[in-house]
Amino acid sequence: MRKLLIAALLIPAAAVAVENPLLSAPANNVGKWEQKLKEFERPELPNLKEYPKPFHSPNYYKYQLNDVCSACHTFAAHKKDEKFSPFYNAHGTFMSCNTCHFVKPGVTYSWAEIKDGKVILLKSGDFYGLKYVKVGDRVMLSGEESSAKIVPVLNGKPVELPLKGNENLLKDTKAVASMHNALTDHPLKCEDCHKVNGKLDFKSLGFSEERVKDLEHNEIVKGLKEYETIHFPKFIW
Ligand code: HEC
Ligand code: HEC
Ligand code: HEC
Repeated sequence: MRKLLIAALLIPAAAVAVENPLLSAPANNVGKWEQKLKEFERPELPNLKEYPKPFHSPNYYKYQLNDVCSACHTFAAHKKDEKFSPFYNAHGTFMSCNTCHFVKPGVTYSWAEIKDGKVILLKSGDFYGLKYVKVGDRVMLSGEESSAKIVPVLNGKPVELPLKGNENLLKDTKAVASMHNALTDHPLKCEDCHKVNGKLDFKSLGFSEERVKDLEHNEIVKGLKEYETIHFPKFIW
């Protein structure tokens, strides 16, 4: 009787976990991931003291590492491509890593917020209001006090793993293998989004008409494409 009760309690929890496509992908290369995790060095984040005043609080720029991906990779995950990496890193602060890295037919996108270990889909709106500020010889990212981010949604479920309640996954090599096997080999690049009828429907995400035009005809994206070497100050990190 006791055993049955435990089984009955366990089934719903397991069923919820399996629904997340990040955890239900095959884990056929656990050995490889064991090795990768051993060699992994967590990227260093910049020294936050460099940020300018006045801001509401010393933590103004401290984006929360509250999902499983950023807990390992931080927001400084990209470094290979010198030209584009700072932009990928910057985008990771207002959209889930999975927005670019989980690409499947049928995926839609929504603003969401992680609260108490749950991903809550928000009604459309430009929750972030991204802008850039100059700090010494660097350009850095500034925004409204909001932890909202754009997440992919598959079959009505956000494709995102909150950190709270899932801390065990960081040490679960099988889960780490599944997560990475669920990701695309061709993550979204600048022009996949910054064009007319790109991957994200900017309008339904709540951006104003004017912002949609800016985002579709993004001068920085064009500039980066046209110039081989862009003389740009150190950007973000
Ligand atoms: C437990 C730590 C850990 C977690 C959690 C984690 N990663 Fe990784 N990730 C790694 C390691 C280690 C590598 C291999 C070394 C590297 O490429 O930096 C890696 C590599 C990658 C790569 C490079 C491609 C590849 O497969 O080697 C991408 C993209 C990536 N991770 C994205 C993500 C995303 C998105 C998530 C969340 C769904 C995530 N990672 C969660 C540790 C982690
Ligand atoms: C705006 C899209 C975008 C977002 C958001 C994004 N990535 Fe990436 N990421 C890419 C692209 C594109 C590549 C491949 C770059 C290349 O091949 O030159 C990449 C490559 C990587 C790599 C390989 C290492 C490297 O230096 O390129 C890792 C690891 C990675 N991403 C992890 C993450 C994690 C973790 C997050 C969230 C914190 C994230 N990415 C958010 C687009 C994105
Ligand atoms: C997955 C879609 C996606 C990809 C890929 C992407 N962006 Fe963006 N980008 C956005 C969204 C959405 C915003 C608006 C964020 C906000 O204001 O809340 C944005 C904002 C920007 C801004 C600020 C624009 C402004 O008007 O303030 C710049 C600059 C930018 N992106 C450049 C790039 C570059 C360069 C790349 C490639 C390295 C890139 N983006 C890749 C979706 C994307």
